Amino acid sequence: MDYLPIFVDLKDRSCLVVGGGDIAARKAGLLRRAQATVTLVSPDVSATTQALIDSGEVKWLNTVFSSELLEGNTLVIAATDNEDVNRDVYHQAKANNILINVADCPELCDFILPSILDRSPIVVAVSSGGKSPILARQLRARLEILIPASYGRLAEMVGQYRDVVKGKLPKLSMRRRFWESILQGDVADHVLSGRDDLGQQALQAALDAVHVDELQTGEVYLVGAGPGDPELLTFKALRLMQQADIVFYDRLVSKEVLALVRREAEQVYVGKQRAWHKVRQEEINQLLLTQAQQGKRVLRLKGGDPFIFGRGGEEIETLAAENIPFQVVPGVTAASGCASYAGIPLTHRDYSQSCTFVTGQLKQGELDLNWSALVQPRQTIVVYMGLAGLPVLSQQLQQHGLAAKTPAALIQQGTTEHQKVWVSTIADLPALAEREQPVAPTLVIIGQVVRLHNTLSWF
Ligand SMILES: C[S@@+](CC[C@H](N)C(=O)[O-])C[C@H]1O[C@@H](n2cnc3c(N)ncnc32)[C@H](O)[C@@H]1O
Repeated sequence: MDYLPIFVDLKDRSCLVVGGGDIAARKAGLLRRAQATVTLVSPDVSATTQALIDSGEVKWLNTVFSSELLEGNTLVIAATDNEDVNRDVYHQAKANNILINVADCPELCDFILPSILDRSPIVVAVSSGGKSPILARQLRARLEILIPASYGRLAEMVGQYRDVVKGKLPKLSMRRRFWESILQGDVADHVLSGRDDLGQQALQAALDAVHVDELQTGEVYLVGAGPGDPELLTFKALRLMQQADIVFYDRLVSKEVLALVRREAEQVYVGKQRAWHKVRQEEINQLLLTQAQQGKRVLRLKGGDPFIFGRGGEEIETLAAENIPFQVVPGVTAASGCASYAGIPLTHRDYSQSCTFVTGQLKQGELDLNWSALVQPRQTIVVYMGLAGLPVLSQQLQQHGLAAKTPAALIQQGTTEHQKVWVSTIADLPALAEREQPVAPTLVIIGQVVRLHNTLSWF
């Protein structure tokens, strides 16, 4: 981040605006909305500024800027049409350690004024870091549609109940859960639809009914994080990611996806790649269990889909045995993600009527697969974890009758900015991997559908 977004309480603090034109008036007006005490310094003023002065909102010093005027101010905004004056204000403010903003001049700014969506007490600030104020304004306009004015009323109502809830629910984690259920349920629905009375009644009823015990039960969310692109997450995955207390994630979870987990949640890496810190599957099962038993909402975040070569089943078996509540959220599996982003339909009326997912992981140098079922015509084969076993795979498929020239695609880090797709034949796959040295994770797609990559590739 180039700038840290913070919300500053300027109530009754002195702020100086240098300039007397319409821009200065706008900045002064903004400071007044935050209840700052504003002094405007300029030898002449525009009609808009004059109106602001006449209304008593700002104090006017009818003079040119000089450094002693900075004294006692929390921040300064320079908005004159004279570059030399603006630069002088900037240098003087810097010398006095006062935060300065020079209008329309990002390089002379300690702070910038974002585009604001005001649903007080909810305030959303959007900034492009001075690069494109217009884009920031467009984004704000989109948020206007997403966040109706009723959100302000909802926040007000919740604010009135904060202390009562605090008295009834002693732990922060309990209060968080209570408020999350309130804000995702009837209370919010009522207020957002203009039925404030019903909202208030529902909130009171929920508060009367709530029991401390029920807010202390742990739960596990087994969530598929998809193959890499964060936009492939489901809404449900995102919602649960936002309410977890602790997250256990593996190496296939991209950093962009991880960044969407609730910021305060503790993050524990349990990747199982060789040479990395290794936590065995049984230990992971146990970790999920003990954390949930402590009353936490535990997020188990796994690449792709948790039930496709993800050992998700084993993890929740342990939980089921101990009566720990859990939810499973499917994710886009690597086969779907990689195929879509590589422009290779897994089935196609002309080329393939079935599709099989197999693991290509070697066990003692062998691949124990049902080869005769795999080499059926008009079928697509997707091989997960197949890179190390490519020579065996290629040789076995040919030995069981698949033509050496059958098209095959090797996809590296599908759906991410590092995605690479190589198209070849099953006979050439091992040599291709040797030559190109793809970076894990990689997926192999075999079948006539691979031909379509040349025309359908888009990503
Ligand atoms: C242990 S499996 C987990 C599969 C995951 N549960 C899923 O549904 O995608 C790991 C294998 O998935 C494949 N894989 C996962 N993400 C991938 C990606 N973004 N690009 C290519 N292959 C991927 C690779 O074959 C990798 O070796």
